[in-house]
Amino acid sequence: MTALVRLAVAGAGLIGRRHIAAIRQSEGAELAAVVDPTDGARNVAASEGVAWFPDLSEMPDGQCHGVLLATPNAVHVEGGLACVARRLPVLVEKPFAVSVTEGLALVKAADSAGVPLLTGHHRRHNPLIVAAKRLIQEGALGRPVSAHGMFWLAKPDDYFDVPWRREPGAGPILTNLIHDIDLMRFLLGDVVSVQAVLTNAVRGHAVEDACSVVMEFASGLLATMSAADCVPAPWSWEFASGENPAYPPAGAACYMIGGTEASLELPSLRLWRHEGKRSWWSPLSATVPPRPQGDPLVLQVEQFARVIRGEEAPLVSGREGLNTLAVTEAIRQAALENRRVSVAIH
Ligand SMILES: NC(=O)c1ccc[n+]([C@@H]2O[C@H](COP(=O)([O-])OP(=O)(O)OC[C@H]3O[C@@H](n4cnc5c(N)ncnc54)[C@H](O)[C@@H]3O)[C@@H](O)[C@H]2O)c1
Repeated sequence: MTALVRLAVAGAGLIGRRHIAAIRQSEGAELAAVVDPTDGARNVAASEGVAWFPDLSEMPDGQCHGVLLATPNAVHVEGGLACVARRLPVLVEKPFAVSVTEGLALVKAADSAGVPLLTGHHRRHNPLIVAAKRLIQEGALGRPVSAHGMFWLAKPDDYFDVPWRREPGAGPILTNLIHDIDLMRFLLGDVVSVQAVLTNAVRGHAVEDACSVVMEFASGLLATMSAADCVPAPWSWEFASGENPAYPPAGAACYMIGGTEASLELPSLRLWRHEGKRSWWSPLSATVPPRPQGDPLVLQVEQFARVIRGEEAPLVSGREGLNTLAVTEAIRQAALENRRVSVAIH
């Protein structure tokens, strides 16, 4: 293998182009090809000075060491299987698949071929999340008991001019809240059951406008998650974290995690504790550690390169992406059937 890991980006749309920019900024990786049938993608390949192919099947062997798969949800598994069949390590964008059943087929294929399979839950690479995980693991919160996560923002009306965004398979749970659920799983462990209520009362589309979810974790921790994509508000990771250059950090909190000794606010990393005795009569004060910086998309590409080199295991494996998807599937079932649904861990 050459010094630089050569990556192809399949699907050069909105996020695929950000992956291309991240590869450019990364250390240890370079762009090897763009795979996408559109003229726009062909132009991107030309301006990046790399080869273009309309389909993965037309990319010759040896063109790249791995593939960043940023195609539409419905073809993630098909593209992932095509990479595995050619023994190409592949990072699949989220949601990992459109159903757990078909996603499991990809995980099994990669496992039996011994080909690295990753999921593009890039927020786990954010240094803020890495720092939060360290605080929790080191016991700064005591025993984690409760958590709350919010995804509230307003998508413009013309967002829904694209028909698939109104149809089952889209919607804020599978498109957005899946990121927040994935971070909660990363920070707090496996989810074992969910309850949920959805509504489409605002727009009347087939997909939900808002939902409220209760998640029970294997540790016994309980979390509530609230999503609404029709509400002007700063309480989402998108707006609060400053992770996406499109949105300057709004300074608001979007996640709260409470333990027996202290509670943690994110993305600020503000840690709240009672001074002296742990009691509601003692003053409550907050410490704020320095805010670590780093572009999670670039850090994700760099980790993918190290995985391809055999230096590390994936931070977010295909199986992890599948298990996060399984929670979203259970949420939909819980809401439709109006009952608590157990989450199978794969
Ligand atoms: N990680 C994130 O924060 C994040 C953000 C946005 C989108 N996504 C995910 O990334 C994926 C793409 O989303 P998007 O918003 O960039 O979509 P998009 O529609 O902007 O781009 C998709 C691109 O894939 C191309 N394509 C379609 N079928 C293909 C195939 N078989 N082979 C190669 N190219 C093909 C299309 O021509 C298009 O250019 C989705 O799964 C989405 O959920 C993730």
